[in-house]
Amino acid sequence: MGSIKAVIFDLDGVITDTAEYHFLAWKKLADDLDVPFDREFNEKLKGIGRMESLELILEKSGKTFSVEEKERLASRKNEHYRTLIQRITPDDLLPGIRGFIKEIKKEGIVTGLASASKNAPFVIKRLKIEDLLDTVVDATKVEKGKPDPEIFLTATKQLGVEPAKCVGVEDAKAGVQAIKRAGMFAVGIGDQNTLSEADWIVSAPAELSLHELYQRYQNSN
Ligand code: G6P
Ligand code: MG
Repeated sequence: MGSIKAVIFDLDGVITDTAEYHFLAWKKLADDLDVPFDREFNEKLKGIGRMESLELILEKSGKTFSVEEKERLASRKNEHYRTLIQRITPDDLLPGIRGFIKEIKKEGIVTGLASASKNAPFVIKRLKIEDLLDTVVDATKVEKGKPDPEIFLTATKQLGVEPAKCVGVEDAKAGVQAIKRAGMFAVGIGDQNTLSEADWIVSAPAELSLHELYQRYQNSN
């Protein structure tokens, strides 16, 4: 059934709710800097690398910062984030995601992870899902961030599957754009309006099913 050969997942906000931890860590930093920061603005940071996210926050401060100051601020945010992810356990997998990945693997489809986070290897270890992923590409392995397709294309190459036979799963607008630019089928998890460029949008991973994915994928080809 179908011709999907690989499914490549984003991590934060797709496999586990670390998107919330990134939000809390940025919020703490923004509050310290007296920069207004809310969930709407945070949407712009999803899928975007650490320094680039910091730049977007600092733009709102109206002040200028030296390279050293920026590095210090980025490390401070990362310390907040690291404190939050220490307590992650396998129970923090989002509902339905383990079952979905297992279903995929049972069908002989290979799996990958494409995360812009340098903390991805740590989080995967805490979640104990290394065995469920055939390849992992994190921010340290690529030059360009999402929405550039490099991270997804690297994962497809490592898996040895042509992009047209690959599905990408993302909760960020920039991530969905990266998947589409890679020439893959995009599944969006979250808000319809934000993720409108995706080929299939669900509100949570629990709504994912391989059967429906095959149907949606086939109808798009
Ligand atoms: C992911 C998240 C972003 C985060 C980025 C960098 O893409 O969606 O919110 O800023 O990774 O994460 P890091 O752990 O390297 O700071
Ligand atoms: Mg994400």
